[in-house]
Amino acid sequence: SQLLFKDKAKPPMVFHYFPFFGSTVVYGMDPYAFFEANQKKHGDVFTFILLGKKITVCLGPQGNDFVFNGKLAEVSAEEAYTHLTTPVFGEGVVYDCPNHRLMEQKKFMKFGLTIETFKTYVPLIVDQVEDYIKKSKYFKGGKGTVPLTEIIPEITIFTASRSLQGKEVRDALDGSFAALYHDLDLGFNPMNFMFPWFPFPGNKRRDAAQRKMARFYMDIIQRRRKDPNSAAKEQDMLWNLMDRSYKDGTPISDKEVAHMMIALLMAGQHTSMATTTWTLLHLAEQPHIVADLYKEQQEVCGLEPRPLAYDDLAKMPLLNNVIREVLRMHPPIHSIMRKVKAPMTVKDKGYVIPPGYHVLAAPGASAMDEKYFKNPKEFDPHRWDAVEDEDSGETFDFGFGLISKGTASPYLPFGAGRHRCIGEQFANVQLGSIIATFTREFEFALPGDGKVPPPDYTSMITLPTPPASVMWKRRNP
Ligand code: HEM
Repeated sequence: SQLLFKDKAKPPMVFHYFPFFGSTVVYGMDPYAFFEANQKKHGDVFTFILLGKKITVCLGPQGNDFVFNGKLAEVSAEEAYTHLTTPVFGEGVVYDCPNHRLMEQKKFMKFGLTIETFKTYVPLIVDQVEDYIKKSKYFKGGKGTVPLTEIIPEITIFTASRSLQGKEVRDALDGSFAALYHDLDLGFNPMNFMFPWFPFPGNKRRDAAQRKMARFYMDIIQRRRKDPNSAAKEQDMLWNLMDRSYKDGTPISDKEVAHMMIALLMAGQHTSMATTTWTLLHLAEQPHIVADLYKEQQEVCGLEPRPLAYDDLAKMPLLNNVIREVLRMHPPIHSIMRKVKAPMTVKDKGYVIPPGYHVLAAPGASAMDEKYFKNPKEFDPHRWDAVEDEDSGETFDFGFGLISKGTASPYLPFGAGRHRCIGEQFANVQLGSIIATFTREFEFALPGDGKVPPPDYTSMITLPTPPASVMWKRRNP
């Protein structure tokens, strides 16, 4: 009876035929459809097998809260992610150090993400986008079609590197750094999460690229120390991180700084690139929103709009609500995982999740649930019009009742709690500047059936199925 009780207390298990594979394929093909189907059967909390791992999905605002607010003694992000991230970022940072170290590292990163730095970033980002458009083979003449999954990754890394990463990194992307990035990026894939012990053929190249890239950052640090005037006027993350010490007096080594820079590059690249791509697709689907965005820019920057500045972005509610709405429908990260370290009780259900399991939050599921968002499948930036001051920490109303901004929220594209994203403001600056520049230059429409392509869940990040093309027409041919 002891055994029976124990089994009863565990969350329900999703039915599957094969012991090790479990629900791997169904989950992998379309995680949200899998969650929805099982939520109907089992409620908000259930367990499935992902290549031998027991994963307990915790849905809804309460599920988000349960995972994001788990105590340090109960949940570990580092044990869930380290196999994936440590070979790519390098040792001693993020998930390859105790949690208190990560907390200090995130604080250091935040010091480099201030309004002062953002003011210098906006013109740099705009300049990169304009330069890219000028040189791209896809933007010749007065109109054409462009595959977004080809150009947006480049625009994203060029803009992030010229601003946050520093001029040296941007310049190197025209040379050897691009190939290094490519090799490293191939190692950032879900297979390494699922089969950490498997010697994939790309692993050697990944490891060599990681070492070379770290060396590249360390060399920049050395050069900057010798000649403090080099890139002196720039306010990038490298200047911000170098020569800092932890609270206990331990200096951060140059190698750790290099590894943090790689972590920031990787964390920002995939998420921002996915969001920009989805944004342009939805704008092309509803060209009237592009017209309104252009009008909004003219109101802020003049009829012949002057160059965009950081302060302008805050005065463009539609632009901000477009980004919010894209992140509601297409949050780049569909599954947030923690390894369970001590038994966790799901209060209102009486389930106990044993150590060794993983818990999984999917805020993207609640963000598409009609319980919280009217007509959830409709792309409507105006549903956010009532959001006045998101940073007030108060509850806010988006048209159908009050929803708190705490961790028990249905809308958490940047996560919550101690692992919450530090890149949100930078992402908004980067995305806002890119989208504003595109809407100044072009009108958009979708080719073919006029439908936004479906998501492809096979990579780490929820991206549209390639080539995700849009048609463009120059405003001033
Ligand atoms: C953490 C989303 C952009 C750096 C996170 C988490 C989410 C997220 C959901 C929490 C992960 C978890 O709890 O396991 C996003 C989205 C972005 C974005 C949607 C863009 C649209 C960026 C950028 C940077 C960045 C641009 C860097 C400049 C980080 C870092 C963490 C994080 C350092 C902390 C990881 C931790 O504490 O465990 N992000 N992110 N992110 N993100 Fe972002």
